[in-house]
Amino acid sequence: MPPHAETFFDAMAAGYEVLEPWYAHLYATLHAVLRAELMPPAGAPRPRALDAGCGTGFQAALLDEMGYAVHGVDLSRQLLRAGKATLARVPLAQGDVQELPYRDGSFAAATCCGSTLSYVGDAGQALAEIARVLEPGGRLLVECEGRWSLDLGWAWLSGLCGDPWGYELGADEVWRAVATPGDRECRLRYPGYGELRLFSATELARLLRAVELEPVRAWGIHSITNVLPSTLLHRTRLSRPVAAIYRLLRAADRALAARWPATRLANSLVVLARKTAASPLPGARRRATVRSGPVEGPTVRVKGSAHSLDSPDTT
Ligand SMILES: C[S@@+](CC[C@H](N)C(=O)[O-])C[C@H]1O[C@@H](n2cnc3c(N)ncnc32)[C@H](O)[C@@H]1O
Repeated sequence: MPPHAETFFDAMAAGYEVLEPWYAHLYATLHAVLRAELMPPAGAPRPRALDAGCGTGFQAALLDEMGYAVHGVDLSRQLLRAGKATLARVPLAQGDVQELPYRDGSFAAATCCGSTLSYVGDAGQALAEIARVLEPGGRLLVECEGRWSLDLGWAWLSGLCGDPWGYELGADEVWRAVATPGDRECRLRYPGYGELRLFSATELARLLRAVELEPVRAWGIHSITNVLPSTLLHRTRLSRPVAAIYRLLRAADRALAARWPATRLANSLVVLARKTAASPLPGARRRATVRSGPVEGPTVRVKGSAHSLDSPDTT
């Protein structure tokens, strides 16, 4: 993530959990998938789960509720602080998902959602690190920005016509993103959110497989809803007609999320992957640091200098 983005997420902390209609649908659908796919085996002692790029802890809270012993890690100290207010028993640490402060094979499940992978500088490295800290057979639910969606068409058209839908993007920059060759990283400026990396479903599957995370199932969220420009849904209140249309589109979007073409043509791509390898992975780092100590809260033990941290019960 570019250095300024840490401060920009810090600045968002106060209102982060107030969801616009766009995000309300995204999280309702994503969290239904999370509950269905990551449920821990009944009767097992509390397995460990990691929320990588946890922000204020939307997914960490769910994993905790589902019976995991959860750890959260994120760059933004202010989002972590906000999360700590409601997630008192979940250890939240400030750190980089590209260099995780946990031992190999220490988690049975992980989430990396809310487009965290689209913000990190090196998505392959972040996935390698998540794979490293998962135990063999461990599961990852990842959600990131999709490259191919009708919404890119709306943004382009809006740019061409003097921006009636308020994307604040030039047609030329949208076109550059669309025309990025498949073997290069596709990035697009998202006003208010910095620059995001957009992934095609094929590229995401390739990145996962490169670190021995085998994709098991896929979903796409905000594909059918793209009949409306996304900017209409990034408002605190929708007009009655838009709200009525959106209700129908949301229902269809959710019902078809696990099917083609949603799994390929959606704003948010979601993949469940399983770790296949037992051995250390190429690209994974052996030792990790955090940017600073844990957000105050119960359980993170700091070893050595104030800048190195190790997870408490992985030793
Ligand atoms: C849109 S938020 C999503 C947070 C949370 N998962 C959710 O769904 O609400 C993206 C998060 O990624 C975090 N992030 C970005 N790059 C990161 C990195 N390299 N290491 C750790 N966190 C990172 C940001 O601080 C931010 O909290």
